[in-house]
Amino acid sequence: MTVHFIGAGPGAADLITLRGRDLIAACPVCLYAGSLVPDSILAHCPEGAEIINTASLDLDAIIAHCKTAQQNGKDVARLHSGDLSVWSAMGEQIRRLRAEGIAVTVTPGVPSFAAAAAALQTELTLPGLAQSVVLTRTPGRATSMPDGESLTNFAATGATLAIHLSIGNLDRVITDLTPAYGPNCPVAVVYRASWPDQQVIRTTLARLKSDICENITRTALILVGPALAGEGFENSRLYATEYDRRYRPQSADSPWSGWQHGDD
Ligand SMILES: C[S@@+](CC[C@H](N)C(=O)[O-])C[C@H]1O[C@@H](n2cnc3c(N)ncnc32)[C@H](O)[C@@H]1O
Repeated sequence: MTVHFIGAGPGAADLITLRGRDLIAACPVCLYAGSLVPDSILAHCPEGAEIINTASLDLDAIIAHCKTAQQNGKDVARLHSGDLSVWSAMGEQIRRLRAEGIAVTVTPGVPSFAAAAAALQTELTLPGLAQSVVLTRTPGRATSMPDGESLTNFAATGATLAIHLSIGNLDRVITDLTPAYGPNCPVAVVYRASWPDQQVIRTTLARLKSDICENITRTALILVGPALAGEGFENSRLYATEYDRRYRPQSADSPWSGWQHGDD
C-alpha cells in the first residue's frame, strides 16, 4: 500500500501530469485539499472511490485515513494544489507516514507561479533584467518568516519576486519593496491563474493598492520586478547567430565541432 502525493496543478482541469492523472485513476481512496483542488480533477477518481476533502481535518485525522487505507490494502491519492514542493504541508505528512511504515511517492504538478507567468505570457528571467525568481510570501497568522527571509532582503537582489499568500498584506509588500524597486516598478497580480474566472491586473508598486479589486482577497499571486515589463531586455546568447555552442558550432576549430547529440 502506498500514499501517492500528487501535485494537482493550479486549477485548470488539463494542467495535471499524465502520471498524476493515471495515479488518481488507480487509487480507490483520494484525499484532497478542498480549497484549491477543482472537482474536474476529482473526476479522474475510479468509480466507487472514497473521496475525502481534508480542508476541515487536522494532521492526525489525515494520517488516520491513511492508516485505515493501509489496513484495507488500498492505495491513496493525496492531492494538493499546484506543486508539492512549496506550501503544500507535504513535509509533515511524509514524516508521519514514514514513522507509520507507509510508503509514499511524489508526483510533481504545475505550480501557480508558472501558471501566473503563462497567463501573463511573460518570461520571468529576462536577460539583463532578472536571472532569478524568488518564490516567497509574507508572514501570516499561522506562519512567521525565518530570520533573513524578509521582503526587504529579497528586494535587495532585484530579482523577480513571486509573492504567494500575501494578497491581504499589500501594505507590507508596497512598503518593503518600494525603496529597492522604486514606485514605478511593474507588478502583476494574477487571481486564480488558469481557472475560468482568472483575472490579470498589471500595475506598479505605486498603484498596486488602488488597482486591486476589493473582491480579490485570496488565491492570487503578486509578481514584482523589472522583468514584468516584458520589454527593455537583451536577447539571450542561446539563439545569437554567431554564438559558438554545442548544438551550433561556428567553425571547424570550435571545441564543439564533431560533437554529436548523445555524446554527453
Ligand atoms: C497554500 S499555497 C499553495 C501553493 C501551491 N503548492 C503552488 O505550487 O503554487 C496557496 C497560495 O498559492 C497561490 N496560488 C495557488 N493557486 C493559485 C492560482 N491558481 N492562481 C494564483 N495564485 C495561486 C496563492 O498565492 C495562494 O495564496
